[in-house]
Parts: sequence; structure tokens; C-alpha cells
Amino acid sequence: VALKNYNTFGIEANARYFFEFDTTEEIQDFLSKNDVINIQYLLLGGGSNLLFTEDFNGLVIHPMVKGIKIIEEDEDSVLVQVGANEDWDAFVGWSVENNLPGIENLSLIPGVVGAAPIQNIGAYGVEVKEVIDSVEAISIESNKKVTFNNAHCEFDYRYSVFKNEYKNQFIITHVNFRFSKQAQFKVHYGAIAKELEAYDKVNLKNIREVIIKIRESKLPDPKVLGNAGSFFKNPVVAKQEADALKAKHEDMPVYELNETQSKLAAGWLIEQCDWKGKQIGDAGVHKDQALVIVNHGNAKGSEILELANEIKKSVLYKFGIKLEMEVNAI
Ligand code: EPU
Repeated sequence: VALKNYNTFGIEANARYFFEFDTTEEIQDFLSKNDVINIQYLLLGGGSNLLFTEDFNGLVIHPMVKGIKIIEEDEDSVLVQVGANEDWDAFVGWSVENNLPGIENLSLIPGVVGAAPIQNIGAYGVEVKEVIDSVEAISIESNKKVTFNNAHCEFDYRYSVFKNEYKNQFIITHVNFRFSKQAQFKVHYGAIAKELEAYDKVNLKNIREVIIKIRESKLPDPKVLGNAGSFFKNPVVAKQEADALKAKHEDMPVYELNETQSKLAAGWLIEQCDWKGKQIGDAGVHKDQALVIVNHGNAKGSEILELANEIKKSVLYKFGIKLEMEVNAI
């Protein structure tokens, strides 16, 4: 099965076997008849955070569960159950239309709802963990339905238990979101507040519009230019280390996380190493956002990875900072 249309990098790769399902019952039936745990398999969502570096000689499991359903509502909040294959941004659009605040800052992030908890997607001062009530999944080993509450997911910056201890062990079928009816807009990040000045009021719809505008101005549309968003994570370093770098590089962005740690902007570090807009074959660094690696046409996954390694080397050499990939290489 060709995977080109299943990854936003647009990399040509093939999977030996491919299974899609629409309901929990279907996947449970499949797991009861196939010894999946003992073969090589890959759980594939929207393919917006992975890089195929070769053909996949195993089974790709692709959830197709749909549906957006309000399952509980009281004075303060609304609980919504969403199928794993719903498009993330379409769901954000739905939340805004239904006047449910909380994820408007996460507008236009590529991918599907079922993948959102895995790396705790975040942008413009909001992380999806803030609205996730629970995650419903099927255990590949036991073939039973399991529900993880928010604490159980161990969310952190671009992190959850599904990336670590439970990696590849659970097939997420639904995510349940708890929206508080009390709107608390977050407009302090970057240029959001400034852009909002052009509107007569601050509401969900306008914030969504502004976020979309900001993203479109910097981030390439994967439908036009293959990419997987930020290729590296923003490095978290000891505050001392960040302060020392800042002393040398005055205009370096630093975000204090707590008393001991700071977060640096990988995009800035990469740009300082002169990578912005550069290209090696069809693998390139985006011209407006150095944290995004793009496929200018027919780049192979291995070529993207080579470029990434060159970038890592120069950032390590110039700043002593080790960049970690955000994207999963398969
Ligand atoms: N910067 C540069 N040059 C660049 C890119 C960025 O100097 O080429 C500087 C900016 O000027 C700014 C700082 O670095 O001072 C941060 O840049 P930006 O606000 O664009 O965000 P980011 O840190 O590069 C993160 C997320 C994005 C998210 C944005 C907005 C990560 C790994 N990335 O990027 O998430 O959209 O913040 O909140 O945390 C993604 O995960 O795929 C993604 C796109």
C-alpha cells in the first residue's frame, strides 16, 4: 500500500499490510483474529508528525473513527466525545461555532484528533492537555477498552505517556474534551493581541481568524509544500546555560519555564546557523520558519534526515545545544 497520501511530508513509501477501521468493535474483531502484538506494526493518524525513511515492512493500522458528540453538559462545562479520525482543525472550527472556548489557539494545526494527546499538541500559549478529559483506547495486548484520565496521560511539553511507557501499545479510538463555558481567552503570545486590535471585539471567532492568519504567514501548508510542522522540539535547558548564552547573544529568545529551566527557540538557533531557506537536493529549510523542514518535491525520507543531522551538527557546534527531533522517524 502506498503511503504518500498518508504523510504530510509527501514521502513515497509503501506498507506491506494496511488495516483501517471505523468502529471499536471492528478493531477488536481484527485484533482477536490477528496476532498483531507479535508482528511489526505502526499506528498511523494524520501522518503530520512522522517521516518515512524507508518502506514499512509491517502492518499499518489506521483508525477511521468519526463523530463529534456532546455527551454531558452542566452549568459550567460541556463534555464532548470525538472520534480519532476527525480532522483536528475541523473540530476546532466546530468548537468555535458552538461557542466552546479552549482550543481556538490551536487552529490550523494539521492532523487528526486521535493524535493530539500523544504529543500534547500546543501553540500560541495553549496545550491540548488543558481541555482533555480522557482518552479512550484499545489495548493491543489485551484487546480491551481502556480509558485514561487526564492525569494518567502524564502530559508535558510535546509529551505524554503514549510516547514513552505506552508507546505503540494502545490504539486511540476517541478523545473526550471538557470545555469550560467560562471563556478565558489567551492572547498574550506573540502578535495575537496586536492583530486583534483590527477587530471590534475579542471573541472565539476572531481569535481563530487571527491565529489562522499568523500561521498562514509563517508555516507552509502541507498540501502545497510537504512538511511536518516543527521538525525539532524547542530545547529545554538549565536556566544557567540559557543565561550564559543570552549574555553572548542579546537578541536570543528565552522563555523561563521555572526557577531552574528555560526553553530556547530552536527556530532562532537554526536561523543563526544560516540554514533558513537553504536546500540540499529536494530537502530544505523553510524560508519563513527555520524550525520547519520541507520537501520541495521528491525528497526521500533519508535525505530529510541527513539535512536534519547537518542542522543538528551546526547548532551543537555554534551553541552547544543538542536539538531533539519532534517528528517520528520510521
Ligand atoms: N524564530 C526565529 N527564526 C525562525 C523561527 C523562529 O528567529 O526561523 C524566533 C521567533 O522570532 C520567535 C521564536 O523564535 O522569537 C519562536 O518562534 P515561533 O513563535 O514561530 O514559534 P516556535 O517556537 O518556532 C512553537 C511550536 C509550534 C507552534 C508555535 C507557536 C514547538 C516545537 N513548536 O514554534 O508548533 O505553532 O510555537 O506557538 O514547540 C509544531 O509543533 O509542529 C508547531 C508548529
